[in-house]
Amino acid sequence: MTPRSIPCSPIEGQKPGTSGLRKKTRVFMQPGYLENFVQSVFNGIGGARGKTFVVGGDGRFFNAQAIQTILKMAAANGVARVIVGKGGLLSTPAASHLIRLNKTDGGLILSASHNPGGIDEDFGIKFNTPNGGPAPEGVTDAIYAETTKLDCYQALDVDDIVLDLIGEVTLGTMKVAIIDPVVDYQALMATLFDFAKIRALFASGFTMKFDAMHAVTGPYAQAVLEGALGAPKGTVINATPLEDFGGGHPDPNPVWAKPLMDLMMSDIAPDFGAASDGDGDRNMVVGRGVYVTPSDSLAVLAANAHLAPGYAAGIAGVARSMPTSGASDRVAKHLGIEAYETPTGWKFFGNLMDAGKVTICGEESAGTGSNHVREKDGLWAVLLWLNILAERKQSVADVMADHWKLFGRDYYSRHDYEAVSKDAADEVMDGIRARMGDLVGQQFATLTVAKSDEFTYLDPVDGSVSSKQGLRIWFEGGARAVLRLSGTGTEGATLRIYLEQYADSHEDHTRDAQDALSNLRDAVVELCELDRIIGRSEPDVMT
Ligand code: G1P
Ligand code: ZN
Repeated sequence: MTPRSIPCSPIEGQKPGTSGLRKKTRVFMQPGYLENFVQSVFNGIGGARGKTFVVGGDGRFFNAQAIQTILKMAAANGVARVIVGKGGLLSTPAASHLIRLNKTDGGLILSASHNPGGIDEDFGIKFNTPNGGPAPEGVTDAIYAETTKLDCYQALDVDDIVLDLIGEVTLGTMKVAIIDPVVDYQALMATLFDFAKIRALFASGFTMKFDAMHAVTGPYAQAVLEGALGAPKGTVINATPLEDFGGGHPDPNPVWAKPLMDLMMSDIAPDFGAASDGDGDRNMVVGRGVYVTPSDSLAVLAANAHLAPGYAAGIAGVARSMPTSGASDRVAKHLGIEAYETPTGWKFFGNLMDAGKVTICGEESAGTGSNHVREKDGLWAVLLWLNILAERKQSVADVMADHWKLFGRDYYSRHDYEAVSKDAADEVMDGIRARMGDLVGQQFATLTVAKSDEFTYLDPVDGSVSSKQGLRIWFEGGARAVLRLSGTGTEGATLRIYLEQYADSHEDHTRDAQDALSNLRDAVVELCELDRIIGRSEPDVMT
């Protein structure tokens, strides 16, 4: 059982993106590929000797095998202790919590989030720092630098360990604690929310469907909703995590969670519907007959958080990613607290939370969370909604109607153009950049440009600057469009166009969102010359 040093060569293309290193599963399965990255993480953080880490993943294909590899490498690198979820399972927010709770040196989380799983689908790995959040750029840069010069990795030549039994085993001199993935997370939720009130809500006949999409949240949602909160068995559907998520995209939005959406829009809809993604950090919230956009959900949660015990003293501030609608800014103003606008990706919220500047954060891409962990947290958002509904004794539709009556409504939609060639996507972006100075005053379709820029973020905590974070175009009449290229795709480029139109508190809040945004969409399609450059003006996905 002596550690072996295995010679290897640097591997190209292991630069972590918005959420770690994400590639096709077969790429990760190449001999040495995962090993190179993991050794680079250990080297990039100044060595692993004597340290403690959390390791777990969303259960997708290759999860279990990757964990065995990581454990053997950790042992050979002198790691003192690893905490791993039973069966190798840990949701991303639960992993973040464990990193913090056990005051560890960080964690390795295996997931490609909402991307499909399987040998021909996607896999991913990311390193989270001791604060529980995704590694900031300085750390990922150091890891990446190691990947380009690595000449050997360390591994222990031992049999795989059994991950299905809770308890402590040793691997060489390293201790491996195999824990129930749900227990600590559930205990944390119980400190934040009024479980008795929510239990009473269910006992009164309130009905709900939670679609775990065959992903990691199944066991968490069953334990909390059907166990602690007494919701009827069958409230959680698709609850068993599968290696291929049942063949679907475990992405909680109206497109990929269509069966739930259809149910919620039908005559037999329950009071409340929710879904979460592959690794449990994203959420979708939908009431009977009403879909709540993630941007609106963030605003409603911020406005009502004080109704839950964990936030009874009020919230310090709200942060949203730049492409997220301005709905939460209006709430912050109303509450007299600060609103922050950050680049896309959860890691930018970490500094603000660590500095005590914000309590609640969210992204238009179905991520919402608070300072209880340093990741977005799907089930947390669902529980906060339940706590709010239990206190307000209103339907989701009524909560939304009240919210819009007070704040106005930000009609919102994201249009994705997938598998665009990299060159064409760059041409769209560069074409706008080149004309940026002359856009103001120009008319496209029926709208006139009021202002435009490219978003640069100055981190108010550490002073770091992130440039080129998205092109923004405001039009007269309260419309805004944002364009950016995805940083998480694994094939070609994905062009994201974010559309937003504000209707003030006196205007009609009952319109269909795509209808309310149609003038803006036409203006953007014309401005970007989508037909000419990418040969189409219809998106693949609208959320
Ligand atoms: C996408 C979302 C972004 C989110 C990230 C990780 O990134 O847009 O909000 O933080 O996934 O879940 P993108 O592909 O746009 O770079
Ligand atoms: Zn995710």
